[in-house]
Amino acid sequence: MADTPDSNSMWGGRFGGGPAAIMQEINASIPVDKRLWEEDIAASRAHAAMLGASGIIAAEDAVVIDRGLATIADEFAESGVPVDLSLEDIHMTVESRLKELVGEAAGRLHTARSRNDQVATDFRLWVRTACGRIDAGLKAIQTALLARAEEHADSIMPGFTHLQVAQPVTLGHHLLAYVAMFERDRGRFADARKRLNESPLGAAALAGTSFPLDRDATAAALGFDRPMANSIDAVSDRDFALEFCAAASIAALHLSRLAEEVVIWASQPFGFVSLPDAWSTGSSIMPQKRNPDAAELVRGRAGLLLGAFQRLSVIVKGLPLTYSKDLQDDKETVFGAFDALALSLAAMTGMVETLSFRTDRMRTLAASGFSTATDLADWLVREAGVPFREAHHIVGSCVKRAEQLGVELSQLPIGEASAIHSAVTPAALAALTVEASVASRTSYGGTAPERVRQAITAARAALEGQD
Ligand code: ARG
Repeated sequence: MADTPDSNSMWGGRFGGGPAAIMQEINASIPVDKRLWEEDIAASRAHAAMLGASGIIAAEDAVVIDRGLATIADEFAESGVPVDLSLEDIHMTVESRLKELVGEAAGRLHTARSRNDQVATDFRLWVRTACGRIDAGLKAIQTALLARAEEHADSIMPGFTHLQVAQPVTLGHHLLAYVAMFERDRGRFADARKRLNESPLGAAALAGTSFPLDRDATAAALGFDRPMANSIDAVSDRDFALEFCAAASIAALHLSRLAEEVVIWASQPFGFVSLPDAWSTGSSIMPQKRNPDAAELVRGRAGLLLGAFQRLSVIVKGLPLTYSKDLQDDKETVFGAFDALALSLAAMTGMVETLSFRTDRMRTLAASGFSTATDLADWLVREAGVPFREAHHIVGSCVKRAEQLGVELSQLPIGEASAIHSAVTPAALAALTVEASVASRTSYGGTAPERVRQAITAARAALEGQD
C-alpha cells in the first residue's frame, strides 16, 4: 500500500486514501516554495492579527497563533524548512507545524482565507523583495562601470558599427552606454514593483469571504499600498511575475552584450583587455590558455532568463479564471530567473572591476580602417564650404588612394591629396588624428572627454539621489 498513504490531514475529509507516490511527487511544491517561508509566516501573522482584531477568532487564539508562528520562523531560520512531500507546500508545512506547537488554535488560522490568496500574497511579497535585490545588483554594476569610465574618460578606442572600425570613441563613453542601459533596467524593476504592490489577501479561494475581515489592515501590515480590488483577479493573475521576468530578460540581454564584448576584447586578435586570474579559467590541454568563461556563462545564462519569461507566459496563456494548479510552476520559473540574474550581475560586476584595459592597443587600432575619414569630410564642409555629399565622395577617393599606397589618411602625400581635390590641404590632413577627432565630438551625448566627464557627474548624482 506504499502508493496509498493516509489521506491528507488538511484537506482529506472526503478522501478514503492518500495520493499515489507519483501523484505526490508531481503535486508537491515544497522543495521549491520553501523559499517563501518568511513571506508565508509574515502573511499568516498579519492575517491572524486581523482575525483577532476583527473578532472573527478569539483574541487569545490570535495571540497563541502569533507566538507559534514566531517560533516557527525561529526554527526555520535556524535549521531550514523541513521538506515533507505529504505536506505539499509551504502553506501546509507551516500550518502543520503550528498545529504541533499550539494545538487546536492552529486550525482557526485558515478562517477566511485559502491557499489561493495565500500563495498570491506570499509570491507578491517575494517578488517585491527580489525587485529590491536586483536593483542593488544593477546599482553595483553601474558603480563599477562609472569608476572605470572615469579612469578612461580620455582613453581612445575604436568605435564600431557592423564590427568594422567606424570612428574613434573614448572608452569611458563606451562604458557609460551600459550605465544608461542598466539605469533603464532599474526603471523597469521599479515600475514592476510599484504595480505589484497590492494585497491579494482576503480574496480567499476566488470569491471573497462571508467573514467581516479587514483587508486594509492586512494590506497595510504587509506594506502593500492597498488590497486588490477584484478577488478573481487577485488569485488568478501572475502578470506581476511576468513583468519581473520581462524586466529580468531585458537586463540579461544588456549583460549578455557586455559579456560578448569582454569575450571579443579578450581574444588575441583584439587584445583590448586581459582578465585577471580570478576571472579566468585555463584549459586542460592547452597550457597557454586563459579563457573568459565567466563572460561566456553570463552570455549563455541569458537563455535561461528569456526562457523563464517564455515558460511563464505559456503557463498563464490558456488558463481560464481563476486558479489552476499549472500556476504552481510560476515560482520555480521566477526563482530561477532571479538566481540567474543576481549571479550574472555579480559576475559581470567583478569582471568590470578587475579587467585591465590595454589602452595602447586600443589607441593603435582606433586609427586603423581610416577611422577619421568622417572628420576629413566634416573639415571640408566646415572650412572649405564643400557640400557634405561631395565631401563624402572626395574623402572616398582619398581613402582609396591611401589604401593603394598603404598609408593612413593623414599621411597621404599632399601632391596626391590635392590632385583629388584642391581643398584637401595639409591643414585638413593635420586634423585627422584620433585625439582631434574624439575631442571634436562635443555634441550633447557625444564622446568628447569633457562630455564624458559631465555624463559621469550626472550619472553619479542620479545614483546617489536614489539612496
Ligand atoms: N502550492 C500551491 C501553488 O503554489 C498553492 C495553492 C494551492 N491551491 C490549490 N487550490 N490547490 O500554487
